[in-house]
Amino acid sequence: MTSNTRPLAIVTGASSGIGYELAKICAENGYDLAIAADNPEINQAAQDFRSLGVGVEAVEADLATTEGVDKLYAATGGRPVDALLANAGHGLGHAFLDQDFNEICHVIDTNITGTLYLIQRVGTQMRAQGQGRILITGSIAGYMPGTFQAVYNGTKALLNSFSWALRNELKDTGVTVTCLMPGATETAFFARAGMLDTKVGQAEKDDPAEVARTGFDAMMAGEGDVVSGWKNKLHTAMATVTPASMLAEQHRKKAEPRSGTQ
Ligand SMILES: NC(=O)c1ccc[n+]([C@@H]2O[C@H](COP(=O)([O-])OP(=O)(O)OC[C@H]3O[C@@H](n4cnc5c(N)ncnc54)[C@H](OP(=O)(O)O)[C@@H]3O)[C@@H](O)[C@H]2O)c1
Repeated sequence: MTSNTRPLAIVTGASSGIGYELAKICAENGYDLAIAADNPEINQAAQDFRSLGVGVEAVEADLATTEGVDKLYAATGGRPVDALLANAGHGLGHAFLDQDFNEICHVIDTNITGTLYLIQRVGTQMRAQGQGRILITGSIAGYMPGTFQAVYNGTKALLNSFSWALRNELKDTGVTVTCLMPGATETAFFARAGMLDTKVGQAEKDDPAEVARTGFDAMMAGEGDVVSGWKNKLHTAMATVTPASMLAEQHRKKAEPRSGTQ
C-alpha cells in the first residue's frame, strides 16, 4: 500500500451490497482501503473508491479459506490497520436436508471461520498498537431460529454473541468491537441464497447505504451493537420475549420455498 498518512480500513465483501457501501463511506472519511471479495467485480469497486481520492488494494480471494484471508492480510503490506469491517458473508435457503453439504460448509467457513481468522489476525495487531475499530456484520437473523435458512441464522447468532465477548475481552485496550445487525436489505443476498421465490426474498427491504451508514456511525462511536431501522429494532425486542418454537414458525412463513407471491 502506498499512502502512510491516511488511516487504513480493511473491508470484506466490498464488491456489492452493504460492504460496498461500508467501503465507500470509509473512503469518503479518508481511509485508504484493503478490500476483498471472491469475484472480479471487486476491481470495479476499487476503481469507484479510488475516484474518491484514497489508495485501494483490491484482493480477489475466497475468504472461506485461511489462504484467502492470508492473501487479504498480506495486501496491507504490514501497515497498521485502523479499522476492520468484517462484513463478507452469505446465506443458503431451502430445507437443511435438501441443501448441498459443501454449500453448507461454505456458509460456515465464510461467515464464521474466515471471519474469526481475519479478526484474530487483525485484532492481535490492533491490541499491540493500542487502538483500532472492529465492525462485524451480524444480523437480526441471529435472534431467531432460521427455518429454511437454519445454518445461516446459526452463523449470525454466533457472530452476534462473539462480538460482545470479544468487545469485553478488549476493554481497556483501545480496541472497540461493534456488531451491525441489519434486517432484510436490498442486496444480492437473497438471489445468492436461492431465496428469490420466498416471501422475504420478494418483500420490500432496507437500503444498503442507510444500513452501512448506521453501522459505520456505531463503529466510530465505539458502540457495542446496533440494529439498523426501527422495524428491525422492534422485531429483535419482540424476539427476546417470544418462544423459540414460535420464532421458528414465523421464519417458516417468510423463508419457505415458494412462500412468495410471484
Ligand atoms: N441482505 C440482507 O438482508 C442481510 C441482512 C443481515 C445481514 N446481512 C449480512 O450482510 C453481509 C453483506 O451481505 P449483503 O447483503 O451485502 O450481500 P451481497 O450483496 O451478496 O454481498 C456479500 C459480499 O460478501 C462477499 N463474499 C461472500 N462470500 C465470500 C467469500 N467466501 N469470500 C469472499 N467474499 C465473499 C461477496 O463477494 P462475492 O460475490 O465475490 O462472493 C460480496 O462482496 C453478509 O455478512 C450478510 O450475511 C445481510
